[in-house]
Amino acid sequence: MCKTCWTITALMLIVILGMAYKFIVVGSVEQATDGRLSLQLEPAEKDLVMAEMRAFLVTVQQINEGVVQDDMKKVADAARKVGRAAQEAVPVSLMGKLPLDFKKLGFDTHTKFDSLALDAEQFGDKEQTLGALTELMQNCISCHAGYRIDLVME
Ligand code: HEC
Repeated sequence: MCKTCWTITALMLIVILGMAYKFIVVGSVEQATDGRLSLQLEPAEKDLVMAEMRAFLVTVQQINEGVVQDDMKKVADAARKVGRAAQEAVPVSLMGKLPLDFKKLGFDTHTKFDSLALDAEQFGDKEQTLGALTELMQNCISCHAGYRIDLVME
């Protein structure tokens, strides 16, 4: 192969790797005035993320209610509703706008709800459930501390 061809190939590879890095790791973010990273989303994308958030909040309430009422089935059902399986299909275009750390925190939160559901079913231990919820909510706190959402109009 000629030297120029190699150079072109190498340059293209760098561009592709750069695009992949931006798409998978960096996402579409800006530094916000409050010190957080601002996700730059379109209205429908924000709606999707926020709907998932409100479902999280409902689940937290339901888990507490289940514990208070000594109803571990309610706990498990509520947690499973926001587990991995129930996770909304995120469009690829939105995936590419979310930074890797954000995605990891999100996946981890869904996974933790699943294991909370499983433990609640298997052991029915209220203290253990509250302990798991307390730990899981560190994810809510750290993500909210690091990220916010602002709208961009296309
Ligand atoms: C992966 C990141 C992430 C995780 C994990 C996360 N959130 Fe959020 N949440 C956000 C972002 C970003 C916003 C928008 C905040 C802003 O723009 O100021 C938000 C907003 C919300 C809102 C406001 C919804 C609305 O309609 O206005 C609620 C309620 C909420 N989150 C609850 C939770 C709860 C409860 C948990 C944990 C079980 C949680 N979130 C975990 C990122 C996350």
